[in-house]
Amino acid sequence: MKFLVSSIIAAVSVVAATVTPMPAMADQAHPRIGFSIDDLRLERWARDRDYFVAAAQSLDAQVLVQSADGNEQRQISQVENLISRGVDAIVIVPFNATVLTNVIAEARKAGIKVVSYDRLILNADVDAYISFDNVKVGEMQAEGVLRNAPRGNYFLLGGAPTDNNARMLRDGQMSVLQPAIDRGDIRIVGQQWVREWNPAEAMRIIEDALTANGNHVDAIVASNDATAGGAIQALAAQKLAGKVPVSGQDADLAAVRRVRDGLQAMTVYKPLKLIAGEAARLSVDLVRGNKPAFNAQYDNGMKKVDTILLTPIMLTRDSIGTLVTDGFYTEAQINGR
Ligand code: GAL
Repeated sequence: MKFLVSSIIAAVSVVAATVTPMPAMADQAHPRIGFSIDDLRLERWARDRDYFVAAAQSLDAQVLVQSADGNEQRQISQVENLISRGVDAIVIVPFNATVLTNVIAEARKAGIKVVSYDRLILNADVDAYISFDNVKVGEMQAEGVLRNAPRGNYFLLGGAPTDNNARMLRDGQMSVLQPAIDRGDIRIVGQQWVREWNPAEAMRIIEDALTANGNHVDAIVASNDATAGGAIQALAAQKLAGKVPVSGQDADLAAVRRVRDGLQAMTVYKPLKLIAGEAARLSVDLVRGNKPAFNAQYDNGMKKVDTILLTPIMLTRDSIGTLVTDGFYTEAQINGR
């Protein structure tokens, strides 16, 4: 008898050990989507969230939003939490592109679809990626600055070293700058990545660059508006704001006003309603088994990831009106202080 009981227990534990985890119960009619965002404290991501939630609701999906506040461990725990809540899809704006391999493997094992949003997650088995063409954004930034400073000393202010976009932007910037470097027209006097795209850190970096070069910096290729803001503050302290062209990205309200005032050479407008709406449709399509309209593929180190790539729009002083026509800002917002 004792033998029988122990062999039953053994048999049960063999079964338990070989049973694979239950797939999440996909409710195709009313999917539940987790949206794990690097940092909702930034203007751009709060807008992405609002547009995404609205678009998902119009597709009969419900969204659970989490903000990791720029903390990679918190983001991993939040994704784990979304897995245990049995969502059907998880959409992730990664803080650190390289640390999500294991948690995404867990999600996939549970039958959850995983979408990499705006920033590519590296070495992970994601189902899809959606973004604006970041190489193109980098090209626009370099073109916008080069137009205003065809010769001289250049400083490259890169994005966060943990963000794959920062590298793609740099690739685009260099493809435009390299011919001018080769001709001897411009010289790169320094380059640095800005941790967490932090404006205060960007300001310190540019203060140091100005000191090191006796203020002889003729152009700054900044990779987004937040870091451009820090750079322009450092320039202003030396009475150089408006004299040294600085690029940006995101059409943050403060940056659009700087472009209006001639303090920032350009920004890049990425219609966030478009990416958020497309991402909501993509997630719902994946859950419902519909084929999404992919138009690109990116190698993330583990696989070629099917991608929806959207087109960014370059804005200079003459074209910021596009933001009003597109409903991104009202004229009163742009004209305010
Ligand atoms: C990038 C994103 C930019 C900018 C930046 C800082 O990945 O593409 O639009 O917002 O992060 O959050």
